[in-house]
Amino acid sequence: MSTTTPTAIPTRTQVAIIGAGPAGLLLGQLLYKAGIDAVIIERQSGDYVLGRIRAGVIEQTTADALDAAGVGSRMHSEGLPHDGVELCVDGQRHRIDLAALTGGKHVTVYGQTEVTRDLMEARATEGLLTVYEAQGVSVHDFAGTQPRVRFTHGSVAREIACDYIAGCDGFHGVCRASVPAGALRTFEKVYPFGWLGLLADVPPVSDELIYVRSPRGFALCSMRSKTRSRYYLQCSLDHKVEQWSDAAFWEELRLRLDPQACDELVTGPSIEKSIAPLRSFVTEPMRFGSLFLAGDAAHIVPPTGAKGLNLAAADVTYLAAALADHYNGHDDEGLSRYSERALARVWKAERFSWWFTSLMHRFPDNAGFGERMQEAELAYLFGSQAAQAALAENYVGLPMVLH
Ligand code: APR
Ligand code: PHB
Repeated sequence: MSTTTPTAIPTRTQVAIIGAGPAGLLLGQLLYKAGIDAVIIERQSGDYVLGRIRAGVIEQTTADALDAAGVGSRMHSEGLPHDGVELCVDGQRHRIDLAALTGGKHVTVYGQTEVTRDLMEARATEGLLTVYEAQGVSVHDFAGTQPRVRFTHGSVAREIACDYIAGCDGFHGVCRASVPAGALRTFEKVYPFGWLGLLADVPPVSDELIYVRSPRGFALCSMRSKTRSRYYLQCSLDHKVEQWSDAAFWEELRLRLDPQACDELVTGPSIEKSIAPLRSFVTEPMRFGSLFLAGDAAHIVPPTGAKGLNLAAADVTYLAAALADHYNGHDDEGLSRYSERALARVWKAERFSWWFTSLMHRFPDNAGFGERMQEAELAYLFGSQAAQAALAENYVGLPMVLH
């Protein structure tokens, strides 16, 4: 996937984007559409970025952003619109009718890998520069108005001067870590379990996603297409992926599913298997001088509800609009209010992801009162249309407030 010719690297651009994950790539495409010059600097190779398996539930606002970026066509033709989602509790399934509860809204199931591929291809088609395999990326002078990015590429030291740096470099990136201590406040919750994920070329067990709460822990039946499925099992944090044979995974999944799903489950060899920890994390503010943080660089949600990609898309939609207003000579209000606007939406998605995670998992120290609270919350949810509407409204995605 798109390689870089070292000689093509400029010494100046308007916006230097650090990180070619979905946040950086989508921002690059939105800026291109707005006539703003940007270079993306990524420390990994394009193939490595495409190899990461992440969630694949696209909210309408994210679909709109992909359309605005000119990369929505494959998502529309190959993505699967989902009007509902199922919750399975102690062997009994309950359908949440997303469309009926939200006035006709739905989500689109389309893998993040495919979103990333579409964005990379659009960038390559337009001849826009992504510097892959940049080493030792560092960001400088962003407290003022003349920031710079340094890195080494093909053993040549490079420096790019810019007006703004977009820190789209994920949770472990260099941008947030480069902000002076004390200038940012962080909020964090680490959950006492992980998700073991398995991808396989087998048809999904059901037409809709099933979030499962069972006495043995949470499970999720998801999909990438009608022939490729993605399953998850809540697991202990000290488990290693090597301990889990495919057979052991399928056996444990069956123990958590309802009888109908067990009957209909098609198993097969895994294409990918990995364990991810679960974390809630927010940085405030999301701006320091001419450095703007977006996506996982600024916040993490646990994957229950699949908000990570959608939050990243909302951030860069706000940021691209703000930069367009700035360069069009309109005003800088969008830049001044970027952090406030993005965080207003982030905290709501953090709340929903935390709530949905807390509701559906087994917590090691939760026996007694905590477990009864989960049961009462679930009984309320299944008996109340208002509670289901609240779940549905959040699941399909809250609106973006641009002005
Ligand atoms: N220099 C350059 N690039 C870096 C650096 C660095 N020092 N550190 C990290 N990166 C790159 C990573 O290699 C990665 O490709 O930044 C990118 C960040 O991408 P993601 O982690 O995917 O983060 P983001 O684009 O914000 O994605 C948001 O998509 O990937 C999911 O879990 C993520 O759901 C979330 C959403
Ligand atoms: C996925 O398909 O990987 C997925 C779907 C929904 C989630 C999390 C992950 O909530």
